[in-house]
Amino acid sequence: MIEKIKALLREAERFQAKDQEELESFRIRMLSKKGAIPSLFQDFKTVDPDQRKEVGMELNKLKQFAAEKVQQIKEQLETESINHKAEPDRPDMSMPAGFSPIGSRHPLSVIRNRINKIFERIGFVISEGPEIEDDWHIFSALNFPEEHPARDMQDTFFVGKDPDIALRTHTSSVQVRVMENQKPPIRTISPGRVFRNEAISARAHCIFHQVEGLYIDEGVSFADMKQCLLYFAREMFGEETQIRLRPSFFPFTEPSAEMDVSCSLCGGKGCTICKYSGWIEIMGCGMVDPNVLENCNIDSKKYSGYAFGMGIERIAMIIYQIKDLRMFFENDLRFLRQFTAAI
Ligand code: PHE
Repeated sequence: MIEKIKALLREAERFQAKDQEELESFRIRMLSKKGAIPSLFQDFKTVDPDQRKEVGMELNKLKQFAAEKVQQIKEQLETESINHKAEPDRPDMSMPAGFSPIGSRHPLSVIRNRINKIFERIGFVISEGPEIEDDWHIFSALNFPEEHPARDMQDTFFVGKDPDIALRTHTSSVQVRVMENQKPPIRTISPGRVFRNEAISARAHCIFHQVEGLYIDEGVSFADMKQCLLYFAREMFGEETQIRLRPSFFPFTEPSAEMDVSCSLCGGKGCTICKYSGWIEIMGCGMVDPNVLENCNIDSKKYSGYAFGMGIERIAMIIYQIKDLRMFFENDLRFLRQFTAAI
């Protein structure tokens, strides 16, 4: 009898049903009044008294197991049929996952993040602002005279018919907003996308990216700016890098300068990247014009500051030796895949 019970238990263990019908015939065969298990209970009377305890236990175990199995398969078939009705094309979530290729950061994002981190390490905080701006924040507050050529149609994209609303031509507009809303000391950098109505070529684009910086406090000098920019240049291009400041002009800084870095490729000896000059121009900078401070309600007698601005594309072209700026915007995977290791 024990053998019979064990055989039925094994059968019940192995049993699977693909539909209700199969399950029902299993139930009838095992558990109905005339099924295998109740008839074993009938035969139980004939078992030797000294075996009754063991046989009784095994028999109860079998009955319970078979009943549970029927219930479990019943519930399984029910949920399967509900899911199937609701979403016939539902993906099988138990399938092993497939591999999809991992994307990578765009080289301009990689370089922007590096620039941000270098300045964040010396206490600059990131500020962002709108790409569609008014004349005040792009030009007027920054001391651009009424007739300045940057304001006219050749350089600026105006939005609609309103001559007051345009796409920002630099992220200095963000710094005007910071100065209007915060009290010095101010130490901020503004990364972002800017727009200029220029013909697209290997060296220029109508959309590009900048990081501009601003530092305002009591007693800030040109020497502070030079030290900060030397630190940046060495962090970005390597420890040996030298900088050179050449006099320049911007409406919002006085004095103004353009900064060159020694060519990191030829070490200053001369190559095609630096056009045999040994120097590469990377940014504009200068002491914030007192008019700009006053326009933003900052006391120019008490406070002074410096500002600088650079194009991210230009820095990326130097670091990665890219000769054509248009590559950044074409999204050619053969180009982008070369930066998968960068973070
Ligand atoms: N805003 C200038 C530009 O877009 C760069 C700049 C910033 C120059 C700060 C000087 C000081 O070209």
